[in-house]
Amino acid sequence: MALKKQIQELHKRREEVRMGGGEKAIEKQEAMGKMTARNRILALLDTDSFQEYDMFVQHEARDFDMAKKVLHGDGVIIGTGTISGQPVCIFAQDFTVAGGSLGLMHSRKITKIMDHSLKMKVPLIGINDSGGARIQEGVNSLAGYGEIFFRNTLASGVIPQISVILGPCAGGAVYSPALTDFVFVVENISKMFITGPEVIKTVLGEEISMEDLGGARVHSEITGNAHFFAENEPDCFDQIKKLLSYIPANNDRKAAKCSAKPPRAGYKIGEIVPDDPSQPYDVRDVIRAIADESDFFEIQENWAANLVIGFGRMNGETCGFVCNQPLVLAGVLDVDSSDKAARFIRYCDAFNIPIITLVDLPGYLPGVDQEHAGVIRHGAKILYAYSEASVPKLTVILRKAYGGGYIAMGSRHLRADFVFAWPTAEVAVMGPEGAANIIFRKEITEAENPEEMRQQKVKEYKEKFANPYVAASRGYIDSVIAPEETRNILLHAIEVSGEKAVSLPRKKHGIPPF
Ligand code: HXC
Repeated sequence: MALKKQIQELHKRREEVRMGGGEKAIEKQEAMGKMTARNRILALLDTDSFQEYDMFVQHEARDFDMAKKVLHGDGVIIGTGTISGQPVCIFAQDFTVAGGSLGLMHSRKITKIMDHSLKMKVPLIGINDSGGARIQEGVNSLAGYGEIFFRNTLASGVIPQISVILGPCAGGAVYSPALTDFVFVVENISKMFITGPEVIKTVLGEEISMEDLGGARVHSEITGNAHFFAENEPDCFDQIKKLLSYIPANNDRKAAKCSAKPPRAGYKIGEIVPDDPSQPYDVRDVIRAIADESDFFEIQENWAANLVIGFGRMNGETCGFVCNQPLVLAGVLDVDSSDKAARFIRYCDAFNIPIITLVDLPGYLPGVDQEHAGVIRHGAKILYAYSEASVPKLTVILRKAYGGGYIAMGSRHLRADFVFAWPTAEVAVMGPEGAANIIFRKEITEAENPEEMRQQKVKEYKEKFANPYVAASRGYIDSVIAPEETRNILLHAIEVSGEKAVSLPRKKHGIPPF
């Protein structure tokens, strides 16, 4: 009988905690088009799979009248569950409780579930919806953030860490997502910034809305802080589930293999690259012509779009694609696309995902802006990332591979395992026009008809160098292949690279050009 009563009491207590900040706060949350923290977790995880911990944790703050305040769950929900049957650890900040602000106990709940995820080697998902450090708790809040950042760093490259920004993520709080692998944002809901509009107005006298300062589009198009953009929360959760299907649970594993499926009919790989080398095309059509079911899961689609990255499958095995995009800025490498490529290459390398590189670029973007923005330092990141990566690295040169771009985009010299080139490939120090103007300047200027001479010299240069055969004759390219042969040749290369094992010189760690 006593037990029956105790169980009733337990259910009553649970119900109180589940109400978070109360009906009014929940109504306010929903009126903003936001789900509650609990409903977010339930929507993302498999039905009935969520187990919650630390439900009855309370803050211990005493200043500023805090002693009187009961903050259910201290404003954050933590637990474990499954997504498509795969175990995950999760936390979700509850904005209805003190604005989801982070105090000491709140941070201890988060670090407890982070410790679990690292120990159990399962992905960690963090749903951020918070006003930042709980002001009343002072330095304890800052300490809490520090403990989180430290764990984000320890877990980096061991387990996948996914951040979902579903509300404000203000001040130093932004640095936890920034340390994680993938950041999801949702239109009209996500707001991420270091200093908010009020501070900017006070310090700089400038007026800006939260949306224009750090909304979802800002971070997926301008800053590159976000990797995935969703129209609404359910769409965001679907994208998270899809991402998890491509990646392994930890760095000791390979991603789960799916059944092998050929690309869909309709992508005629031999007809994608135009005859005229100055004409653009969408490199994603080439990926879709190669990958299983023509399925390509693009990452950072709207930022640094001159380079395309994302996951696809080859005979059921996850591969990372790193591709120049001739459709945008002719596919040049610049500051942002170098960052984008380098980070993704390191992700694939950390999580045992083979890298397929598709090359078509005229080189690094010239200009004062790029030089002053540090294209030397940023551009070096790609060289570092490819050189360091020990997963299978397969490269296909589709068309242009000029200058530093040739070396940077997964060349043999950075230890690609297999380098293939289509007959349309042009591997040279620079484009024929520029090259002819420089090396035949004298002949051109002194000719009776300089334009005719220039055209003739461009043609001569093209015949000699703007093809794959010079590089193939040195063994820098392993095979010149027809576009239609690409998928089968890549499948073979992946198959024979399955047990690849290389080791780098012994060191604590390298010093990449961060
Ligand atoms: C304590 C907070 C809080 C905070 C919000 N609340 N932020 N309580 N500490 N940081 C409380 C509010 O007092 C309110 O409580 C409830 O949460 C809801 O907040 P509202 O302001 O009513 O909501 P809204 O109008 O939607 O505005 C949300 C907001 C705003 C934009 C996030 O609250 C805001 O600007 N907060 C401060 C953001 C900020 O500057 N954070 C940085 C802190 S410094 P009641 O009881 O009225 O419901 C920092 C440094 C960390 O984070 C460094 C780590 C390295």
